[in-house]
Amino acid sequence: MKITVVGAGAVGATCADNIARKELATELVLLDIREGFAEGKALDITQTAALLGFDTKVVGSTNDYSKTAGSDVVVITSGLPRKPGMTREELIGTNANIVKSVAENILKFSPDAIIVVISNPMDTMTYLALQSTGLPKNKIIGMGGILDSARFKTYLSLALGSNPTDLNAIVVGGHGDTTMIPLIRYATWNSAPVTDFLTEEQQAKVVADTMVGGATLTKLIGTSAWYAPGAAGAALVEAIVRDEKKLFSCCVALDGEYGQHDICLGVPVIIGKNGVEKIIDYKLNETEQAAFNKSADAVRSMNDVLKTL
Ligand code: 2OP
Repeated sequence: MKITVVGAGAVGATCADNIARKELATELVLLDIREGFAEGKALDITQTAALLGFDTKVVGSTNDYSKTAGSDVVVITSGLPRKPGMTREELIGTNANIVKSVAENILKFSPDAIIVVISNPMDTMTYLALQSTGLPKNKIIGMGGILDSARFKTYLSLALGSNPTDLNAIVVGGHGDTTMIPLIRYATWNSAPVTDFLTEEQQAKVVADTMVGGATLTKLIGTSAWYAPGAAGAALVEAIVRDEKKLFSCCVALDGEYGQHDICLGVPVIIGKNGVEKIIDYKLNETEQAAFNKSADAVRSMNDVLKTL
């Protein structure tokens, strides 16, 4: 198994670090446009092998895509991160050009790869990767919902005083502060609805905190977060390479599902060796479906910006 991570910034390097520790590949390539940067990060990760005990070969590359040839999975993290006060949407102009050229280069050397998109604004970058590569829709997967669902579980566990791994909770819709939809009605604490244990006020706070989960960190750190985004990216790669058939919320192309067409948006899916193996049809109530439609409208108007670039 060969895996490439494009972009050796904080998210890309953390994702690569997790992939190496989990031994998901025999060879892992980390690529960046900055001279020597990916080589340095790859060497640093390699030097943890003797301490952590993994045998994944980690290779760095300064923009030489030939080193990525024959990758089974490629993760795109390239592009600018958020600054405090900035929305993910404001990154569209710069990141669209970067993601388009990265996706095209990947395709040249790894025509059979499954592509995972992490770059922001993630829903639009996933749509762009799908359009610019022409790959089948099961092979382009946006990683936003796994991260947002992990943040949802974090805030739920803080409110409940529970172990986060005892929680089941999912966020659908867009990966934006106002477009994501934490489905609290469906969230359970070891099978019991969390709504049985939290007041309406507590539930509203958990949902609100989840939605600005990324912005809260950007404000505190001064740039986008990386530990959880990197770990979430690696969890998605793991589900693909180990053919786990995991049910995750991922950003995928919709063709009538959830009432939407010609858009990539976060929905519950089964992830396995073929990438997106199935879209699962959760029964949304009227309020949730209305929120989903609103989210789709916002993402669609961002996608329209791509035509003007
Ligand atoms: C986040 O939410 C980087 O979009 C990513 O932290």
